[in-house]
Amino acid sequence: MFRYIVLDIALLQVLAQFWLIESINFSTRVEYKNIDFVPLEYQAHLKPFELIGSKFYYIGNAELNWFQAVQECRKKGGNLINLKTHQETLVIGMQLNASHDYWVDINRLGQEEYVSITTGLRPDYLNFLAKDMNEVNDYYHTNEQLSCVTLVKGYEDSFVMKETKCMEKSRFICQLSSPRTISIVVW
Ligand SMILES: *[C@@H]1O[C@H](CO)[C@@H](O)[C@H](O)[C@H]1NC(C)=O
Ligand SMILES: *[C@@H]1O[C@H](CO)[C@@H](O)[C@H](O)[C@H]1NC(C)=O
Repeated sequence: MFRYIVLDIALLQVLAQFWLIESINFSTRVEYKNIDFVPLEYQAHLKPFELIGSKFYYIGNAELNWFQAVQECRKKGGNLINLKTHQETLVIGMQLNASHDYWVDINRLGQEEYVSITTGLRPDYLNFLAKDMNEVNDYYHTNEQLSCVTLVKGYEDSFVMKETKCMEKSRFICQLSSPRTISIVVW
């Protein structure tokens, strides 16, 4: 008997709390927020992307042509890497195998200027070797097929950009789309 009374009181308390909340304001809404970081507890959900430096990347070890690499990154929820700074290139370069080449997200198929497939804009950052830069600037004398770009090992420790035939097979680097939108339920 005593047990039931306790149970009843507990139930009443729960109900009272409900009414209290409801009388204050019991509407819910969903907020969408752009965040530039990923909380630690979510990072496991982003596989195969991994935090390297300050962004999430996936380094693909399959050998694909540029178009296939684009598709592969999209399939995983990202894009081919959109390099922004020399610092980023150095950081990602430390994770790459110097014996391999890696596709990045720029090409100039059918046009003179390089454009990022990720942003549709001219790239913020180019990093061709000086000798290659002449060719990059001299579009009409370049083999027109050399329209896509890989990262390759440069003279020093860092990786540099190299014009590459789009149909050649290379490894590739995907980057998680960012900023990510997450939904937060606010009570
Ligand atoms: C409840 O909250 C919503 C959104 O915050 C507000 O628009 C509404 O006026 C509130 N209602 C009451 C009764 O306070
Ligand atoms: C780099 O690639 C070469 C050729 O595929 C391979 O033999 C070597 O083991 C790789 N090195 C590392 C550190 O994975």
